[in-house]
Amino acid sequence: MKLAVVVLAAGRGKRMNSNVPKVLHRIFDKPMLQYVLDSSSMLRPSKILIVVGKHQEDIKNSVKNRDVSFVMQKEPKGTAHALRKAVMRLKGFKGTIIVLNGDAPLITAKTLRRLLMLHRNGKNDISFISFIAGSPAAYGRVLRDKSGNVRSIIEEKDANKSQKNISEVNSGIYAFEADALKLLEDISMNKLKGEYYLTDIIGIARDRGLRVKAYCIGSEAELMGINTATELLKARQMFRERIINKWIETGVIFLDPDSVFVFPHVIIGKDTIIYPDVYLEGKTKIGKGCILYPNVRINDSIVKDRAVIKDSTIIESSLVRENAVIGPFAHLRPGCDIGAEAKIGNFVEVKKSVIGKKTKASHLSYLGDASIGESVNIGAGTITCNYDGKGKHRTIIEDNVFIGSDTQLVAPVSVGKSAYIGAGSTITKDIPSMSLAISRVEQRNIDGWVSKKIKVKSSKLKVLS
Ligand code: UD1
Ligand code: CA
Repeated sequence: MKLAVVVLAAGRGKRMNSNVPKVLHRIFDKPMLQYVLDSSSMLRPSKILIVVGKHQEDIKNSVKNRDVSFVMQKEPKGTAHALRKAVMRLKGFKGTIIVLNGDAPLITAKTLRRLLMLHRNGKNDISFISFIAGSPAAYGRVLRDKSGNVRSIIEEKDANKSQKNISEVNSGIYAFEADALKLLEDISMNKLKGEYYLTDIIGIARDRGLRVKAYCIGSEAELMGINTATELLKARQMFRERIINKWIETGVIFLDPDSVFVFPHVIIGKDTIIYPDVYLEGKTKIGKGCILYPNVRINDSIVKDRAVIKDSTIIESSLVRENAVIGPFAHLRPGCDIGAEAKIGNFVEVKKSVIGKKTKASHLSYLGDASIGESVNIGAGTITCNYDGKGKHRTIIEDNVFIGSDTQLVAPVSVGKSAYIGAGSTITKDIPSMSLAISRVEQRNIDGWVSKKIKVKSSKLKVLS
């Protein structure tokens, strides 16, 4: 059976008070419109049409890599007018057309599938999803007749007092059989708003004896529409809670779930403990039994089982292997591979480097463009000088090397297996394995230097007095 999807996204979005088109406002890392497209493309429709208006360029750019077509609605003359533009493009299409609002992003594919199933099994001409709204004022109310069948939808502005008390509202998500959309031609302009209301099609279809059903099958948390910045904030909170609750169910432990952000594509293993103010972004994967302490932000990274990420640490596009300990106050920049049981400690920055198993860099270091073997000790204050002003160079440190504190490794340079570097060295030449490198000025002690200095000072003072 053929299926097409139409997303209405040409409205002005005036109530947002923003220059950004409404459907491009973000929930986490994606614009609202993207969420609607993600859910609807899971129904595998043969076509997705987006009705766009004044902001068409911005909208087209934001969904560049998707298989969608655009229909222009020059003037936003209402939802029925917008759909009519799409229907003109769908000429000759026989089958079901799902219509969604671009400003209701939390809809799941599961609920859309349910609508489609109910619509097709019921052999309906038109079906739509309704829900019970906490404050229904922003929505069209669903009017039902005595036997409970939907009669029509009435918008807030046109509703009388008793209709305003109805809390069952229209979600703006419909399934139409293509033939029923001929009725769009019969919708007249709403005088109060100067727009053609798609919602009028329900009453008209009933009058003509078509089969019309409203299914109250979803919650406000999934179906809410976003017209204002406050509603956007509310939607973000609800979406955040939906994700966190899912992970709580699967055995992730949150000490303060209200302060944690987990992006939709993140995966977290069982028995992982997450402290307050943690952000897990992008396509991050956290293993089982990990601990993420407060103020940790992990973006597009993999953290394997039982790793511990201590307070105030940032990890970007990197891999942290089993039982490794990172932080506090560490920064893994993109391209790091931190070995199992390795330790990257206080104020250590690592970039594009491989750190071997059981290697430790516990304090105040910069390790960039380095390949470091297993069981290496990186002393406090060690720096790989990877940049000569023009290009980046690599530092290679083999297994079991001991690097004394405050060492500078001027790349390109390599340190052979089990070599030692004395503290305070500046290493500019390769070090053979098993040898000691030391490159500091030998220490001199000058006897009595301090007392001589004091004598000179006091004789000068005498002259002055
Ligand atoms: C609409 C419904 C209302 C429903 C609510 C659900 C109508 C008349 N009302 O109200 O019954 O409860 O959604 O959230 O349909 N759009 C266009 N072109 C236009 C006007 C709007 O493409 O000329 C698009 C908007 O970009 C938006 C969607 O249609 O994505 C809905 O428009 P909006 O103005 O937000 O309608 P609501 O007042 O929320
Ligand atoms: Ca809306």
